[in-house]
Amino acid sequence: MGTDIPVHVGIIMDGNGRWAQARGFTRSQGHLEGLKAAKRIVKAASEMGIRYLTLYAFSTENWKRTADEVGFIMSLVKQYLRGELDFYRENRIRIRHAGNAAGLPSDIQAELASAAADTGDFEGMQVILAINYGGRDEIVRALRRLAASGKMAGADLQALTEGDITASLDNPDVPDPDLIIRSAGEYRTSNFLLWEGAYAELCVSPKFWPDWTGEDLAAAIADFRGRDRRFGGALAAGN
Ligand code: IPE
Ligand code: IPE
Ligand code: MG
Repeated sequence: MGTDIPVHVGIIMDGNGRWAQARGFTRSQGHLEGLKAAKRIVKAASEMGIRYLTLYAFSTENWKRTADEVGFIMSLVKQYLRGELDFYRENRIRIRHAGNAAGLPSDIQAELASAAADTGDFEGMQVILAINYGGRDEIVRALRRLAASGKMAGADLQALTEGDITASLDNPDVPDPDLIIRSAGEYRTSNFLLWEGAYAELCVSPKFWPDWTGEDLAAAIADFRGRDRRFGGALAAGN
């Protein structure tokens, strides 16, 4: 038995701060190393034939951190988007955003929009950057879009389906994640892909994100391939 490689992998890239703390470094140094890990994992995922990779880089709750830390993470996002453009071109990687764009600084909004536009025709792997992303916030924004379209009024409300909500999410054409990986050992979603991840297989690794390599991704995928995905159904054989 076994399952094919996942079409869509989501990663909660956690543990930059603890990685730095363990070495007596600043949290910024942890985020900088975390960015390098993200680059390694994008490359590895693309080589493995993953079609969609969602990277959770900044949550709607991460604004609780100091202005310095938030500012540093935003500057890294910018650096990543600019610095990797040649790599995306060579590898035909398409960049997209998930999350509340309007709540981001205008330069980051512009950078995300331009990376999405520059890579929009590429047919290779899609990298979805979840920045100012919260699963609950995404659902609220989806409901607002539906309300604006008239689908939540009168008789239409009774006809509302799960599909209508899915179709109103940030990237409705992206299939649900098959596998959600979390580094740094916490067993929680922290508001990541709440709607889309209903049947995602979960894989938690104790390793801090800056230490991640392609081998860790390969191990998570091997683990996934051994899972029995039932989606609420019963096993095919036996009683
Ligand atoms: C993940 O690492 C990066 C972001 C959430 C932006 P953390 O910064 O959360 O690292 P820990 O959890 O403090 O170790
Ligand atoms: C989740 O990590 C968000 C990202 C990785 C971007 P957090 O570090 O914010 O999650 P909690 O606070 O441990 O739940
Ligand atoms: Mg954390």
